[in-house]
Amino acid sequence: MGRIEIKEMCKEFVERRGAPRVINSDPDLHKGGHLLVLDRISLNFDDGELVCLLGPSGCGKTTLVRIIAGFETPSAGSVLIDEKPVAGPSSDNIFVFQHNGLLPWMTVWENVRLGLRHMRDRKEMATRIREYLDVVNLTGFEAHYPHHLSGGMQRRAELARALVVNPEVLFMDEPFAGLDFLTRLKMREEIINMHEFIHKTILFITHDIEEALEMADRVVVFSDRPAQVRMNLKLDFPHPRDFTKDTALEDIRRSVYTELGVHYAL
Ligand SMILES: Nc1ncnc2c1ncn2[C@@H]1O[C@H](COP(=O)(O)OP(=O)(O)OP(=O)(O)O)[C@@H](O)[C@H]1O
Ligand SMILES: [Mg+2]
Repeated sequence: MGRIEIKEMCKEFVERRGAPRVINSDPDLHKGGHLLVLDRISLNFDDGELVCLLGPSGCGKTTLVRIIAGFETPSAGSVLIDEKPVAGPSSDNIFVFQHNGLLPWMTVWENVRLGLRHMRDRKEMATRIREYLDVVNLTGFEAHYPHHLSGGMQRRAELARALVVNPEVLFMDEPFAGLDFLTRLKMREEIINMHEFIHKTILFITHDIEEALEMADRVVVFSDRPAQVRMNLKLDFPHPRDFTKDTALEDIRRSVYTELGVHYAL
């Protein structure tokens, strides 16, 4: 389960009269009072699909994911998860992966256990935690506190914390931001392996075109704000993917760069 259907969805932010002006909020919002962010988005994601969302900064990717996760309501159109309309955030079937989401006063084990706090069976709980710490290669670090882990290990612990909940859909908004290049490459690999293992629907926002094309089953490219779907590509290439050997993949890479208005990187 984890099929997502988005139909003709729009999102407009409206400045409320009398609402305090937030520093750093969008200046366009104060000019006209209305800001169209998502413009008739229609998309279908299959159960178990790893979808990467690409688009210019500020186009509306986070807003789209927040609506699917139930944190925002659309201004028009609909979002269905497993044929049920999304009506607010639900901890049963979704999990939003945030970086720096670990609680610093808890060990890795305790942080991962947070997602299972409603579980009664302690033995089963311990088995689940052990299993997912193993998936992310953190066996042996159960008693460590977050500040005793490297950046990459912290992300892996966060990932274990998300996976242990066994969500139908996993939302990841630039989860590798701030990681060094090598760690990022390794995390990419881990996500691909992990996805083959758990086969959950994952919505993954990134600014990295190669990252998206290496990982995803589907890549969606949005226009500038208001975001419209510019490309919706199903990628049936086996992993690991190599742009230098696969000309079809390389052609797609070039077309995505072109769509995003970048020519020098070709
Ligand atoms: N709660 C809100 N109220 C008003 N405007 C908002 C709100 N949330 C987002 N926006 C505006 O909507 C637009 C899209 O923002 P969003 O965060 O979805 O972009 P993004 O594609 O995720 O950008 P980035 O790649 O930089 O993270 C921006 O102009 C932003 O200022
Ligand atoms: Mg964003």
